Amino acid sequence: MLRVSQARKIFYPGTPDERKALDGADLSLATGEFCVVIGSNGAGKSSLLNAISGRMPLDEGRIEINGADLTDLPVFKRAARIASVFQDPMIGTAPTMTVAENMLLAELRGRRSSLSPGLNAERRDLFRERLSVIGLGLEDRLDTNVGLLSGGQRQSLSLVMAVSNQPDLLLLDEHTAALDPRTADLVMKATISAIDTHDLTALMVTHNMKHAVDYGDSLIMMDSGRVRLSMSGEEKAAATVETLIERFHETPDWLMLQEA
Ligand SMILES: Nc1ncnc2c1ncn2[C@@H]1O[C@H](COP(=O)(O)OP(=O)(O)O)[C@@H](O)[C@H]1O
Ligand SMILES: [Mg+2]
Repeated sequence: MLRVSQARKIFYPGTPDERKALDGADLSLATGEFCVVIGSNGAGKSSLLNAISGRMPLDEGRIEINGADLTDLPVFKRAARIASVFQDPMIGTAPTMTVAENMLLAELRGRRSSLSPGLNAERRDLFRERLSVIGLGLEDRLDTNVGLLSGGQRQSLSLVMAVSNQPDLLLLDEHTAALDPRTADLVMKATISAIDTHDLTALMVTHNMKHAVDYGDSLIMMDSGRVRLSMSGEEKAAATVETLIERFHETPDWLMLQEA
């Protein structure tokens, strides 16, 4: 479904500040696969997701979704197929618009026609229903400006908006890392339920080793701009925090595991 081949990106090449963000990264995901991404700071996790979403153009390599070559497509042309949620709750929603207005915008995003269905009662009911599953009380705040919401509410809203158009691929870049543990768990539960309900193919970066063990059909570890190790199937299902650490100690640049 998703294929990244030999993705390369070097910032400031040939200068003392040279940074290899991606150095020949390869990845394939099957339709409906939920893959967790771990790796130390600077390993290239965000770069991989940004390359897939089009936010970071590649120097070399290829990105395909369902056989279509997206490598040179700008972000907005990928937006209907690829949805992203980032770490910062301030990104992804418009603070001076209400919850309902944000959700309406998300629905219209990536659609070719500008036929606006408007915020009718039916649509408001649908939005309320989508928000109620999260458990953060957002369903009662349809007309609240998003700037007044908590970080967790805002992140949940970003998630609901990201999946509202049934994207082919959902990209999550440490989307619970800025939240307190309880809220992070709620947002994580909402994430799993969204992925299951919509049968999404998803790539989730996390620093949380427990989340990496508990969730996902497969797991990859990145290091120095490459995918170093991957696990799937029974091996992934049986993985524990300890076995992950053991396997990943075999890689050269093992520095992660801040918050297990
Ligand atoms: N826009 C950028 N400008 C310069 N260097 C960058 C940029 N984006 C990423 N990098 C560099 O690429 C490497 C990988 O970064 P990143 O993908 O953000 O890692 P991770 O998300 O795994 O922590 C780092 O060395 C980082 O400094
Ligand atoms: Mg990152």
